[in-house]
Amino acid sequence: MDFFRGRVAIVTGAASGIGLALSRALVAEGARVVMTDIDAERLEAAAGGLDEVVTHVLDVTDAAAVATVVRETHTRFESVDYLFNNAGVGVFGETEEFTIEDWCRVLDVNLRGVVHGVAAAYPLMIAQGHGHIVNTASVAGLCPSPGLVAYATSKHAVVGLSVSLRDEAHDHGVRVSVVCPGLIDTPIFQSAKSIDMDMDVSLELLRKSGVRPYPAVRCARDILRGVRANRAIIRVTWFARFAAWIYRHFPYMIRWSNRITVRLHRARQAAARQEGQEHAPGG
Ligand code: NAI
Repeated sequence: MDFFRGRVAIVTGAASGIGLALSRALVAEGARVVMTDIDAERLEAAAGGLDEVVTHVLDVTDAAAVATVVRETHTRFESVDYLFNNAGVGVFGETEEFTIEDWCRVLDVNLRGVVHGVAAAYPLMIAQGHGHIVNTASVAGLCPSPGLVAYATSKHAVVGLSVSLRDEAHDHGVRVSVVCPGLIDTPIFQSAKSIDMDMDVSLELLRKSGVRPYPAVRCARDILRGVRANRAIIRVTWFARFAAWIYRHFPYMIRWSNRITVRLHRARQAAARQEGQEHAPGG
């Protein structure tokens, strides 16, 4: 229980979902937490009532701002023990509908945001002789994920960055882990940009295959358990563990299931569109 006591942790995307649950769990374990998020209002509301937290409004796509928060945290607490690069956004839909701006937004937040955190904290952790960088990817960073192509691109890159840096960082005493959750119950699907794709249809298809959203509080608990154990890849939910295992050993099964899901999804979307037209005035 004393593992995180007195430790200093920076969490990005801390105003909501997994980042908020992680911040609360770290505070409950006695850590000093620097909660950061791009959304100032939600950040203040999220941090209200939590002891030992400092807040910074921070856009992770701004490299200089990320460096400033890391530096100020080090000056204030004389250590940065953990950096949770958690902030992320989603863009869902058929790839031919994506604009370059859609691609850039996902890559800027999900990948460059993590790179900015690493660039700021890693040299400092080397100088300290210790530290743990925990990057949030996704099961979409381990398996092919149609309908989430830009998101999966960013998350595969975060997995590659993390497992490569882990080996390079080892002799400096710096740890690196990557978190790959399955479906977690957070507002990400509401805030994600969905291009001609009804997320309710996707979520219903997932539910029908037995996948239920996992509570963010339990996700945070599982992440901290993985951090304590210094796991390279922290897979959260049975679905993430199962899908990653199947893809590693029987990749064609994931491909078949993906193709069926894509066809089902397109058929459901087409039916929904037709129904909409029939019920439209003059339809
Ligand atoms: P969320 O939408 O609840 O929280 C994301 C937070 O990131 C929000 O507070 C948002 O304001 C913040 N954010 C967005 N852009 C930002 C930026 N440029 N700079 C700083 N903060 C920014 O989403 P959730 O689900 O908690 O996501 C956390 C991480 O977990 C993300 O990296 C996401 O991709 C990943 N993830 C989520 C899964 C899920 O099913 N919810 C599954 C797998 C991975």
